[in-house]
Amino acid sequence: MKGGLYNWLIILIFVHPTTAQEGFVSLACCADSNFKDTNTSIDWAQDSQWLESSSSCKNISSNGKARIFGMDMGKRACYHLSTVEGQEYVIRGTFLVAAGGSSFRVYLGSTLLGLVRSFQDSVVEGSFRGKRSYEEFCLEKDKGQPFISFLELRRLHDFRYLSPFPSHLLKLIARVNVGVSTSLDIRYRDDSSDRIWKASPYFQNEARVLTEPSINISSKSDHNATHGVPLKVLRTGLTHSDQLVFLHDGLDSATYQYRIFFHFVELNQSVKPGQRLFDIYINNEKKATDYDILAHGFNYEWEVYDVLGNGSLNLTLVKASVGSELGPICSAYEILQVRSWSLESDEKDVEVILKVRDELLVANQENEMLGSWSGDPCLSIPWDGLGCDTINGSSVITKLDLSSRKFKGLFPGSLPKLVHLQTLNLSNNGFNGRIPSFPASSVLISVDLRHNDFSGGLPESLAFLPQLKSLNFGCNPSFGKELPPNFNMSRLTTDYGTCDNTAPTFLRRGLVVGTVVSGSVLFTIIIGVIYVCCCRQKSVFRGRYDMKRELMLNDIIISLPSIDDTSIKSICIQSFTLEYIEAATQQYKTLIGEGGFGSVYRGTLPDGEEVAVKVRSSTSTQGTREFENELNLLSTIRHENLVPLLGYCCENDQQILVYPFMSNGSLQDRLYGELAKRKTLDWSTRLSIALGAARGLTYLHTFAERCVIHRDVKSSNILLDHSMSAKVADFGFSKYAPQEGDSGASLEVRGTAGYLDPEYYTTHHLSAKSDVFSFGVVLLEIICGREPLNIHKPRNEWSLVEWAKANLRESKVDEIVDPSIKGGYHTEAMWRVVEVALACIEPSSAYRPCMADIMRELEDALIIENNASEYMRSIDSLGGSNRFSMAMERKLVQPPTPTPTEPSPISHELAPPEPR
Ligand SMILES: *[C@@H]1O[C@H](CO)[C@@H](O)[C@H](O)[C@H]1NC(C)=O
Ligand SMILES: *[C@@H]1O[C@H](CO)[C@@H](O)[C@H](O)[C@H]1NC(C)=O
Ligand SMILES: *[C@@H]1O[C@H](CO)[C@@H](O)[C@H](O)[C@H]1NC(C)=O
Ligand SMILES: *[C@@H]1O[C@H](CO)[C@@H](O)[C@H](O)[C@H]1NC(C)=O
Ligand SMILES: *[C@@H]1O[C@H](CO)[C@@H](O)[C@H](O)[C@H]1NC(C)=O
Ligand SMILES: *[C@@H]1O[C@H](CO)[C@@H](O)[C@H](O)[C@H]1NC(C)=O
Ligand SMILES: *[C@@H]1O[C@H](CO)[C@@H](O)[C@H](O)[C@H]1NC(C)=O
Repeated sequence: MKGGLYNWLIILIFVHPTTAQEGFVSLACCADSNFKDTNTSIDWAQDSQWLESSSSCKNISSNGKARIFGMDMGKRACYHLSTVEGQEYVIRGTFLVAAGGSSFRVYLGSTLLGLVRSFQDSVVEGSFRGKRSYEEFCLEKDKGQPFISFLELRRLHDFRYLSPFPSHLLKLIARVNVGVSTSLDIRYRDDSSDRIWKASPYFQNEARVLTEPSINISSKSDHNATHGVPLKVLRTGLTHSDQLVFLHDGLDSATYQYRIFFHFVELNQSVKPGQRLFDIYINNEKKATDYDILAHGFNYEWEVYDVLGNGSLNLTLVKASVGSELGPICSAYEILQVRSWSLESDEKDVEVILKVRDELLVANQENEMLGSWSGDPCLSIPWDGLGCDTINGSSVITKLDLSSRKFKGLFPGSLPKLVHLQTLNLSNNGFNGRIPSFPASSVLISVDLRHNDFSGGLPESLAFLPQLKSLNFGCNPSFGKELPPNFNMSRLTTDYGTCDNTAPTFLRRGLVVGTVVSGSVLFTIIIGVIYVCCCRQKSVFRGRYDMKRELMLNDIIISLPSIDDTSIKSICIQSFTLEYIEAATQQYKTLIGEGGFGSVYRGTLPDGEEVAVKVRSSTSTQGTREFENELNLLSTIRHENLVPLLGYCCENDQQILVYPFMSNGSLQDRLYGELAKRKTLDWSTRLSIALGAARGLTYLHTFAERCVIHRDVKSSNILLDHSMSAKVADFGFSKYAPQEGDSGASLEVRGTAGYLDPEYYTTHHLSAKSDVFSFGVVLLEIICGREPLNIHKPRNEWSLVEWAKANLRESKVDEIVDPSIKGGYHTEAMWRVVEVALACIEPSSAYRPCMADIMRELEDALIIENNASEYMRSIDSLGGSNRFSMAMERKLVQPPTPTPTEPSPISHELAPPEPR
């Protein structure tokens, strides 16, 4: 499932025609040398400009070899052929059976031309009108190995197969020279366009072959009169006293339109107009009545019919029932199937990106990314590093991300010609030279040139692009620091060319960031609370074709395995300047909380969006590592129950994170803080908040197939947005779960007292079950409405966990339930939550459920709570309490409760709760 893009690596050959025939490309696959066919005088060229080693050659017969492609499923091998726009062509692949049991698809560009199965030699031919300077002929594996022996491209001279279908592809079904006695096909030089007229000896009863080698088609013997059909074909014909029937079946069973061409010549010189009349039927439908070849004084006619058909075609010429002396006659016919071109990318963009590719290739021959750039840049899957979107019905390139792909050499000079480009990221490469100028019409929104070796300066044309919002060019040592005059700072997010040196280290360190932090933080009780609510997301680009599994965080590129293809989007987190932050917070005017990380201020962005700005205090014990950790994680993790990161600032040793402001505070505040005094949080709201938080944590624990452990789950980290929807915050302590093979134990223990998993505390072995323990404490908080640790209470009530457990052991649920919700809950729902909470706080992690199970239990509890009917209540009032205590007994007998190992608060220096 990972990296769907790479299944589409395309193998490519560039064909440079070397043949002598004008407008011909004749490739003999695997030929040892170029050669001339003595019979046809066609000059054949080798197809040796082969880029990949994944093909092999096989001798088929004395006059044919085959190139066999050992490719993977879904890959394509393409021949790149030059064409001229507006010119009409025939393209033909010949497949001499080389690999038994294989089948593969033949494409022209991204349009399917046919399917080849290897039980017989086959030829696939199409006619088309050139759309641009090239066309690609591709093979895509279906089963076994695709192969090809010959590939021919022929320019059509003055022949209008396509006149009613200029934008279609015509696939050849049959081109038959009827009325021949030999089996010799006719092609070049008899046919100047080298169409192959298949000899078709015909054995219909009583049918006769007429041959008139000297037939006078003189007045029309020029090319136009015969529509290029060779005289050799026209000078023989088939006639029958009554009817001629030509049947073709085994065609594609889907319904297609067909073009049928009849080529008629009166080959009996003594016949006069009116003597030979016939009706033309196609698939039992009469297309012409009393058709007379000589009616217009000519003795050559061609006739075209467009019919709809599926599966089979029946062409029948029937002698006219009255007035005709002679039966029908026919020299040749052709059947072409009309196929629509599949959607392709904007031609100009394709042209430009191909130029960009060529320019990049100059210094990056070996670049893996470029090696995969072939075929249509946007369809069906965009090239690695590209993002596309549909504008006015065609796919255009809107994003180019070459960051951190080891590129060297000059800025591709054609790049500014990508007129739809919005995002350009060349950061973290070895590009050098000057930045070219950009046209004022450019729609670029974000440009990142950091960590390269560009010289010169920032071109004014780039700095003043009308739509530009973010421009970063720091960390280019030779880059001119002088900004263009009148450079409008406030309009842009920019680094002003300064270098943020943490970034490359960042990159190397990747996602797993070890933390070594002194244990003194351990029992800091963090009360005051943080930043909060409202979840408008900023700078989230959703490209329809942008399937890349890469999320951008300015300097950091994080590749993610795909989780859910439908929800893939790339997220751009803004980097803000300190000046910008200061303006947004009005010089840090409104303090809304303080935590281990530092202070949290309220701010407003220029667009009016309210934000919470977390500023790392100089004395903060959370270091740069946590900062990076949080940045890394938050940039990639997006879930409706997780607080999204909007941006960050990393300037003057300041580490600042910007989040949307959560207007309803934290769960802690709502349960027993200031806000709780004003309004009690009712039970069903508590339940739905708990469920939301459980969903967020479940997402973290199953994130990208690798578990992310929050490490600091607590009610003050569960924030509430304007609709009281829960959002889990503060990933500062987050860490990927150790994988098998990693050493599971990390040296330091992090977390908040009261919520800390005793097993983790004693063994230092971190697992997702530590979050489960903490979440169990949160569940107890919503049940009991009190803080997990309170040393102002009697000794036996200091620890919420111990106190609640002791009461529940004696089935005294009522004792512990928050007095302010008494009577306001459904017993069954409450019981479910109590049971889940008890399971979560099992001292041994093996007995704790996983977040997904907890989530389901809470869902059930919420459904029960919300659906509680009078009937249910009456049942409860009769037997509920009884059932409740029985269940309680069942539950409480079961666990082999070892002595609780949670650190007893008194045995450690415990900082008293900070006053808020
Ligand atoms: C050339 O044509 C002759 C018949 O005229 C045939 O026997 C021979 O195989 C052909 N040679 C090639 C190379 O196609
Ligand atoms: C293919 O035929 C050529 C002669 O045409 C011969 O030299 C070569 O060895 C053959 N290759 C194989 C694999 O049979
Ligand atoms: C062919 O037809 C032209 C008139 O269209 C005539 O001049 C010529 O004599 C004819 N030739 C033969 C061999 O019938
Ligand atoms: C054939 O027709 C095309 C246009 O239909 C014309 O341009 C061309 O000159 C004609 N050729 C001859 C030989 O008459
Ligand atoms: C040619 O047509 C005449 C009638 O116009 C007919 O009598 C004769 O049999 C035909 N010849 C052939 C070979 O069909
Ligand atoms: C082909 O079409 C003709 C004329 O419509 C009809 O008489 C004949 O039966 C058809 N043959 C087949 C095989 O369908
Ligand atoms: C072919 O078309 C006919 C109508 O023309 C329809 O009845 C028939 O079901 C079609 N067959 C297939 C295989 O689609």
